[in-house]
Amino acid sequence: MTHPTAACPHAADVPWRAARLPPGVERVSHAILGVQAADAEASADCATELRALLTQVDGPGHLECMRFVDPEGLHCQVFLAYWLDAAAYQRWRASPAVDGWWRALPRDSAVGVWCEAMSLPLTRFQYGAGNDRIAGMVTLTGVEPSTKFGYWGGYRDRIPASVEDKFLSPVQQVPAPNERDTRGRRLRVEAPDNLCYLREGQSWDEAGAEEREVWQREMDATVTDWVATLRDEPERTGCLSVRFCREWDAGRDSALERQSQIVFALSLHHIERAARTIPTHLAVKDSFLRMHANATFEPRMHVWVEMFILKRGELVADYVNCHPRTGLLPYFEAVEVA
Ligand code: HEM
Repeated sequence: MTHPTAACPHAADVPWRAARLPPGVERVSHAILGVQAADAEASADCATELRALLTQVDGPGHLECMRFVDPEGLHCQVFLAYWLDAAAYQRWRASPAVDGWWRALPRDSAVGVWCEAMSLPLTRFQYGAGNDRIAGMVTLTGVEPSTKFGYWGGYRDRIPASVEDKFLSPVQQVPAPNERDTRGRRLRVEAPDNLCYLREGQSWDEAGAEEREVWQREMDATVTDWVATLRDEPERTGCLSVRFCREWDAGRDSALERQSQIVFALSLHHIERAARTIPTHLAVKDSFLRMHANATFEPRMHVWVEMFILKRGELVADYVNCHPRTGLLPYFEAVEVA
């Protein structure tokens, strides 16, 4: 392990929080469900039906909504659903209402639907943030103080199973994207061992005027640039799918002052290398640490990450009627499913 202050001299100034791992929890589930269409209106009915299904018996213990426009110009509505008990997810997914809805999705519609569902032990999960606000999976597990922060290798050290597993991918380079015909089809993608899923979040809704100024002056545009590099340069960064989402208040139908990047990378090793070398990430990391070291205010921005390392078979990635560049579709073998 690198010494905590070796890479980031201001790291000691941040009240870091990591996930608490509740005893008795074995396998958790997280599903990224999305609908895509030429505009939000065209997918509105489909998204409303999906949201209603997510409130049914055995539905997620925690749900967040987001929107983004993908590089093909399609408007996507995304539901991030979290279950502390993977068996409850399986029951929800297999229920007649959910399974019947999924099977009845029309192939000739202008709307594409996907479900990327992962079920795995919490020993391959990590969360990190600079204060005690919560989001994602830790709304169900809770958080606790941790010293595994502020140095390269911190993400890895916070994953309990990293003491015995390096999480190496059998695939060294992002494969050349495959432009197969995917519309009108129901496809399931088979991903290789040790795929790395991460959700990075930034919320500035509780920040005061001075902190907002730091966000706007030093961080906002730099984060956008950094994430664009991850999305647009898969060979250099190891990133397969990068969705830059605005978080959404579904009740009020309005944008929140929160954003999340939903990323699948070939491995933790690939994304670590990108984070340690690409200047825009180094700049935003330093701004964040400097702000904590020099602040004349209490920073309330919620800058956080959650990560899952997925063994082969732990991710079920299904795409119905989606365009060929959706999610993991361009990169791996896909089989037709019912
Ligand atoms: C406001 C935005 C961001 C800030 C302030 C920030 C800050 C940091 C800091 C302080 C670290 C040091 C490690 C730690 O303490 O856990 C770190 C590591 C890392 N960040 Fe960011 N980051 C931001 C956005 C992102 C985004 C959007 C991604 C990817 C999509 C990302 C990927 C990573 C990775 C993979 C590491 C781990 C490197 C390692 O452990 O060797 N970061 N970041």
